[in-house]
Amino acid sequence: MADKSQHPPTIELDGARLRPLRAADAGALYAYLRDPVVTELTSYPAVSVSLVETMIERSLSRWAAGEPSRWGVALQEDDRLVGTCGFNDWSRVHRWAEMAFDLAPAQWGKGLMRQAVAAVLQWTFRQNQVDRVQAFVRVDNERSIRLLERSGFVREGCLRGYRVCRGQAHDFYIYALLRSDWEAARQHFGTDEAQP
Ligand SMILES: CC(C)(COP(=O)(O)OP(=O)(O)OC[C@H]1O[C@@H](n2cnc3c(N)ncnc32)[C@H](O)[C@@H]1OP(=O)(O)O)[C@@H](O)C(=O)NCCC(=O)NCCS
Repeated sequence: MADKSQHPPTIELDGARLRPLRAADAGALYAYLRDPVVTELTSYPAVSVSLVETMIERSLSRWAAGEPSRWGVALQEDDRLVGTCGFNDWSRVHRWAEMAFDLAPAQWGKGLMRQAVAAVLQWTFRQNQVDRVQAFVRVDNERSIRLLERSGFVREGCLRGYRVCRGQAHDFYIYALLRSDWEAARQHFGTDEAQP
């Protein structure tokens, strides 16, 4: 089991890094989450500064309690937060984790989150605490669907009316990547990277 004092490790990517979230990230996180284009295809509630502060506090508490949560995605050039990637939920008993991510629209279309997802998957499977990483995605969230599929996730089904998004129920796909999928892709591509 993870050490009680564990915090997420910093992982350098190409042009960005995964690093622990900080209370001081609240302004940057709010700045992009308040943009409706980021939340319109998700089940995020109405975004406020206090919601964002609570999200960061909860994430830090979960890490401190030994339960993996979200990393911040920050630009290498100035360490500015432009996204988050990691886990909304984590079951020690059933050895699965639920992945989630979001990125400031100015950074979309650069492959940044794909790198982040690959690094988080690699860290996760090497920790050997889960054998399955899953994600729920609204059926009309095409960018997220592309990201999950390019990262090797397999669509397992459609959950009808699964989540209420700002007052309206929506269908969600469930995607998952098993440890065996991840290991097979690494062997096939002869790479240490998590993504195929
Ligand atoms: C989901 C989200 C993180 C995806 O962002 P993204 O930038 O499209 O994702 P990626 O990092 O995979 O980038 C892929 C894009 O970068 C392009 N790209 C450019 N350079 C690249 C590179 N070196 N490597 C890979 N892709 C590259 C790809 O062609 C692709 O563009 P396309 O989708 O138009 O074909 C973003 O849309 C988002 O934050 N959405 C709102 C929040 C949300 O919906 N979260 C998920 C809830 S389930």
